[in-house]
Amino acid sequence: MSASFAVFPFVPQLPEHIAVIMDGNGRWAEQRGLSRAEGHRAGSRAVRGIVTECRRLGIGHLTLYAFSRENWGRPKAEVSFLFALLKDFLTRELPDLLEKDIRLSIFGETEELPQAVRMTVRRAVQATSGCSSMRLNLAVNYSGREEIVRACKALLAEGAEPSALTEEAFAKRLWSNGQPDPDLVIRTSGESRISNFLLFQSAYSEYYFTPTLWPDFGAEEFRAALGDYAGRRRRFGRTGEGACPGTATAMEVNSA
Ligand code: FPP
Repeated sequence: MSASFAVFPFVPQLPEHIAVIMDGNGRWAEQRGLSRAEGHRAGSRAVRGIVTECRRLGIGHLTLYAFSRENWGRPKAEVSFLFALLKDFLTRELPDLLEKDIRLSIFGETEELPQAVRMTVRRAVQATSGCSSMRLNLAVNYSGREEIVRACKALLAEGAEPSALTEEAFAKRLWSNGQPDPDLVIRTSGESRISNFLLFQSAYSEYYFTPTLWPDFGAEEFRAALGDYAGRRRRFGRTGEGACPGTATAMEVNSA
């Protein structure tokens, strides 16, 4: 467990599902005169920290954007390094995932990954399939638009009638089938865009953008994100009076 995540005071109204666009590894490395690979390595340490903390807080679902379909456009050496890092991470963390009862899922097309990575991913997914205390979803080779097209193809292939094309039927054909929509989407590194991430599922997510670069995203920043979330009123298109009950006021959060 990352030491910086060790102490975390109680924050009311935790999200059930948090999704994170982990951005800024390259800039973090550049600022230190290190290679981009070192930035990604530091990023993978931050992954361990947030997984541990989410489990400790009882957050049921965590989805991390590890590799987009668009990321294939990076230099070949960087792509290879990212997959090697993912493979090492899963190999190293598997005992811990099992011990913490965390079930791993992948959002994205694993068939297109290098074979060794595919095997490691498959092994970790299978080994943790009986775990039920938390879901860790890694979006790998993921594209939100592609996911939507894939769901349409699945429905067409099943011969679904137009009347059967409900939002629920559609959601069941997404990688996130059976899991709640993200309540909170965090993006690090100062960019304010969603980059093809969970396009269908994030219709009513709350967004938290921070200038902090992903490798520096530790306990303090995570607390700030959760505190900010707890202070929001989620109306889901309704008026203030019909707002989702139980969301804390900013004053309650600050005094927690
Ligand atoms: C974006 O930062 C980050 C990525 C494309 C990869 C995310 C990977 C990790 C956090 C580490 C490995 C993950 C796991 C699950 C083991 P960037 O490289 O685009 O940063 P920049 O915008 O500053 O260049």
